[in-house]
Amino acid sequence: MIPVITIDGPSASGKGTVAQCVAQRLGFHYLDSGALYRLTALAAARQGLAGASEEVVGRLAAQLPVAFVGNDIYLAGDVVTEAIRTEECGRLASRLSAFPAVRSALLERQRDFLCLPGLVADGRDMGSVVFPQALLKVFLTATPEVRAQRRFNQLISKGVDVIMADVVRDLRDRDERDRTRAVAPLDPAGALTLDTSALSIDQAVAQILAWYSVNARHEG
Ligand code: DC
Repeated sequence: MIPVITIDGPSASGKGTVAQCVAQRLGFHYLDSGALYRLTALAAARQGLAGASEEVVGRLAAQLPVAFVGNDIYLAGDVVTEAIRTEECGRLASRLSAFPAVRSALLERQRDFLCLPGLVADGRDMGSVVFPQALLKVFLTATPEVRAQRRFNQLISKGVDVIMADVVRDLRDRDERDRTRAVAPLDPAGALTLDTSALSIDQAVAQILAWYSVNARHEG
């Protein structure tokens, strides 16, 4: 069985950075599942389908012409690595991800990332739906204040003109939508919760590696 570590959690909890570091430390592959939802959103927006029906967006997700090459992400041959990171794209991704047809269209694509020597996958439902067999399931979180500050700093450092009140409102809306949708909602059940509010990235990574080594020893 190929080992999997799932790292789920709300927006701006630090999942992406922590998951990539864990993957690097273990020499594992890395899946940023949010990128697939963001790619679906970008494709829909570009084709004027942002307000389309579940069936239409589900079909779009199933046929998404995407490629992950090194650190670059392509949509229909265009580099969209940065374009999918905007707040607007995140908001639309959150909205379209509530469609069951979109989620099932992306399911196999996510499972295709599973290969030796192992995988670290981050998202909202990695441990609950996509990789229920994972050797370690982590729920990474932080207080809303800390997450808002992190997102704010991230946007400012990218040169995006934002005000804190908008960041707080966006995070609150996104959390609410991701937590309350009918299919595969964000849910800490079954995972070990790690609150990173007062932790550095290195400390969070070290904790996950320590948990993993315990579980891997039990398994072996
Ligand atoms: O992690 P992120 O901010 O890049 O994800 C963007 C949106 O995609 C998120 O608000 C909800 C959705 N998503 C999801 O529903 N399931 C996942 N496994 C990952 C992301």
